[in-house]
Amino acid sequence: MNSQKHLFSLDPEITYLNCAYMSPLMKSVEEAGIKGIQRKLQPWKVKGENFFNESNDLRREFAKLINTSEPNRCVIIPSVSYGLASVAHNLDLYEEDEILVVSEQFPSNVYPWRKVVEEAGARIVTITPPQTTENRAKLWNEYILDAINTKTKMVACGHIHWADGTIFDLEAIRARTTDVEALLVIDGTQSIGALPFDIQKIKPDALIAAGYKSMMGPYSIGMAYYGEAFDDGNPIEENWINRYKSEDFSNLVNYNNDYQPQALRYEVGEHSNFILVPMLLEAIKILNEWNPENIKTYCDELVREPISKLRDAGFIIEEEGKRASNLFGIRLGVHHNMDDLKQKLTEANIFVSYRGDAIRVSPNVYNNTEEVEKLVQTLM
Ligand SMILES: Cc1ncc(COP(=O)(O)O)c(C=O)c1O
Repeated sequence: MNSQKHLFSLDPEITYLNCAYMSPLMKSVEEAGIKGIQRKLQPWKVKGENFFNESNDLRREFAKLINTSEPNRCVIIPSVSYGLASVAHNLDLYEEDEILVVSEQFPSNVYPWRKVVEEAGARIVTITPPQTTENRAKLWNEYILDAINTKTKMVACGHIHWADGTIFDLEAIRARTTDVEALLVIDGTQSIGALPFDIQKIKPDALIAAGYKSMMGPYSIGMAYYGEAFDDGNPIEENWINRYKSEDFSNLVNYNNDYQPQALRYEVGEHSNFILVPMLLEAIKILNEWNPENIKTYCDELVREPISKLRDAGFIIEEEGKRASNLFGIRLGVHHNMDDLKQKLTEANIFVSYRGDAIRVSPNVYNNTEEVEKLVQTLM
């Protein structure tokens, strides 16, 4: 795959290496949004079936992206916190139970658990990385596996760490959680789209992802997958459209006690958002055409040489395979000064993030070799 910069409207004066903050939009995604706005100018053209068709298409396209044959396990959510609230609402927690998270996890994937453990008298176990830069990712994964035991009710983590791109070995974590009958809930916000994810291989109980980062969609819409563990659960809201046969508008006040099939009860009210749904649908269609495997390879090749140069210059970056290429942390060596580097990057119009003690760099298919080389030259 080659650079897809031409599909975006990026300013040639800037170097945008900050997809983990917010992706830019493709021009075709922008057009889909504008069409969505314009549709509301003529509401008489919005038909009953429009409340369902595009949401169905979006579920199917997302199902393809994560390789599940069950699109009705995929639901539209407004945020990660919403998707995880449905998990929290259905956790049957007891005093002795433990919820396992990794340290410095994104807050939307910590606060819901703090609330439920407090109510149940249970506890959160936070797995911190080793204090060494040698084998950091390998050891961190081992600590996670060692901490899973019969008290573990759930492991909630990302596929990659949002601050430095450390890859968590989800297959190994799934195997261990299955042994002790614990749930596995994944926040895929920084990885879905940019890294292959296979529901059939990982078999998570839930996968939640915001749409505006590696899925390249707009803000305020995301997707969630819920497995069988949540089949008979309670949604956090009771909206009309999630009820069985809501397609029949003339019958809505013959209130129905049943929900739509599988996970659809967890979908947000007004999921048929006529602006955001077509935008995310268009973005995921293109991701599926590209294929996350190719996006991953593109990013791997894009950063391999530059990372090697930065390591030679004393920067500390996890080795390939243990960290993502669409998001990685650069930690400073003894001779570097963070304030100086921040100033240099700002002056060079290079956009990255600063998370914890790392410079977070997150390229994607709209970046090219010259841009990553410019980053290297600016940091050296
Ligand atoms: C890993 C991760 N999860 C979730 C989010 C967003 O959470 P929410 O949709 O609840 O605002 C972010 C935003 O930076 C993130 O990095």
